[in-house]
Amino acid sequence: MSDNLVNKKIILVVTAGIAAYKAAFLVRLLVKQKAEVKVLMTESATQFITPLTLSTLSKNSVLIDFVKDKTGQWNNHVDLGLWADVIIFAPATADTIAKCANGICDNLVQAVYLSAKCSVIFVPAMDLDMYKHASTQNNITLLKKYGNLIIPAGFGELASGLVGEGRMAEPEEIIKYINNFFGEKQILKEKTILITAGATQEPIDPVRYITNHSTGKMGYALAENAANMGANVILVSGKTNIEVINPNIILHKVATAQEMYEICQQNFQKSDWIILAAAVADYKMKEVANQKIKKKEGQNEMILTLVENVDIAATLGKQKKENQLLVGFALETNNEFENAKKKIVKKNFDVILLNSLQTKGAGFGTDTNEIMMISKEGNTKIYPLQDKKELAKNILIDLFEEYSL
Ligand code: CTP
Repeated sequence: MSDNLVNKKIILVVTAGIAAYKAAFLVRLLVKQKAEVKVLMTESATQFITPLTLSTLSKNSVLIDFVKDKTGQWNNHVDLGLWADVIIFAPATADTIAKCANGICDNLVQAVYLSAKCSVIFVPAMDLDMYKHASTQNNITLLKKYGNLIIPAGFGELASGLVGEGRMAEPEEIIKYINNFFGEKQILKEKTILITAGATQEPIDPVRYITNHSTGKMGYALAENAANMGANVILVSGKTNIEVINPNIILHKVATAQEMYEICQQNFQKSDWIILAAAVADYKMKEVANQKIKKKEGQNEMILTLVENVDIAATLGKQKKENQLLVGFALETNNEFENAKKKIVKKNFDVILLNSLQTKGAGFGTDTNEIMMISKEGNTKIYPLQDKKELAKNILIDLFEEYSL
């Protein structure tokens, strides 16, 4: 048993679903791991499990209403929201999910959710058709977009007798998730991590530019995960459609390689790790046209003169100090391993992450990726095809274990 939960302040919100009975086990496990637990319930959840059970197990009064009793004392939702290190909605019903996703605030639970500054984890539980319904799925997507975490419902027999997705995760799984959540928080706590992501854009004229297929998913996944693990992240991003979620990420949006370089240079000294995931244009226009370049009658060929762009990685590589870790990416179509190793030397990387365009489902625009990590000493590790978010997490954990312990 890890000590990740010792003295952690946890609000467990129990809403009105049959899975509420599992809340009793969850409270017991949390208390056993020495967390401080306050249970909040919606009025209708009290029909599924009694406040007495949960207050006895949590060793704290269960809070249901804004007003405590007839003396005029009230449960201060702002204080509760600020008190918690994490809030867990388990079970989270379709109704509560919809309310949280849409900012509705008609009970104590909703007011605490809106007042909270900490991470919030939703553990949905409902019948399969309710779970699958487009509006529920949209609401879950919205919750994720707002930075909330979701432990997805599992597959199994439901209270209705139907079999499908909708079962609340078991208390043991929830405990494992929370343990990881707090464990993750700690490992990069002292670190400042500079990350580049996305594609740069080099203007040709006021309406055209040179770019590439990078969507920034890998760089953003690294940034989000590093921030979730407690790092202060400085993300320098070329064009992407991805939104930043974690408040620990300082985002600088740039267009050209030169702009990306300048922000990187300004933040380089104070960064412990530098991870260069951006797909940077190697060349830019020698001269950017002031006016839109017009098509000329009879001209069936056009030559643009390009000049070399700043190599951000190589420039920072030259300035790198002993205590800094410089991680680059390589995207190769042939002689992958040899080319990647050459880049380690050329740019003074400590580690290079080699993307392959050979594997289906890996590379640009996909949600998954396959990577080979190569260290400057020549050690290699393969990360098989997996979700980019999962991959980012695994890479960060390995970098931490290899270079920071
Ligand atoms: N990189 C950079 N600045 C550049 C070009 C690349 O910081 N102007 C970084 C990338 O972010 C990546 C690494 O260098 O981490 C390797 O990028 P890649 O495009 O594969 O290498 P290049 O040096 O451009 O070599 P080539 O295009 O010839 O493969």
